[in-house]
Amino acid sequence: MTILAFSGSPRPDSAVSRLLRAAAAPAADSRFIFFEGVLDLPLFSPDLDGADALPPPAVAALRGLLHQAQAVLIATPEYAYGMPGSLKNALDWLVSAGSFYGKPTGVISASPSEVGGERARAGLLLTLEALGAAVVPAASFAVPLVRTKLAATGEVLDAAFAAQLTEAVAALAAAVPAV
Ligand SMILES: Cc1cc2nc3c(=O)[nH]c(=O)nc-3n(C[C@H](O)[C@H](O)[C@H](O)COP(=O)(O)O)c2cc1C
Repeated sequence: MTILAFSGSPRPDSAVSRLLRAAAAPAADSRFIFFEGVLDLPLFSPDLDGADALPPPAVAALRGLLHQAQAVLIATPEYAYGMPGSLKNALDWLVSAGSFYGKPTGVISASPSEVGGERARAGLLLTLEALGAAVVPAASFAVPLVRTKLAATGEVLDAAFAAQLTEAVAALAAAVPAV
């Protein structure tokens, strides 16, 4: 099974990107493809996304990754109580492709705060609802105090958090229909 690990952070040294890589590391049964390129995408306009429009290369690449994945694990930081604008921009580019529709999706937020980016996650859930993603509750949660749980090296510092990540990947895999 192929899982797209979709980082919503625009930063190269990102906590949510590290979180996704930590979730993937023990999951030998699944193939993970990582998307950490929200800043590579141009700003969306419907005028650039018509039926005859050739998508920009970075958009075509992201659409290709989403198309080949059977499930998605998406993680977002929180900026001013919302998801980063660059993540919303990426999702706007994915509306017309329709590839999120019915796809099992885990939705995680993480933040150094005690709320763990839950407000950003709430907004992300709404947008993913519009895209028709099949959100998997057991793979969807906020991660408060992320700096106490995940080191800058990517090492998971908290056993309960490690178990939560493992269970999230297992729940995603279980939600993919057998062919
Ligand atoms: C402009 C800005 C606004 C932020 N607003 C919030 C916020 O509303 N709530 C919160 O919990 N953290 C907030 N943060 C902290 C980020 O969530 C935190 O830096 C997070 O770890 C970044 O994730 P990343 O390392 O994956 O990029 C904000 C950070 C920035 C730079």
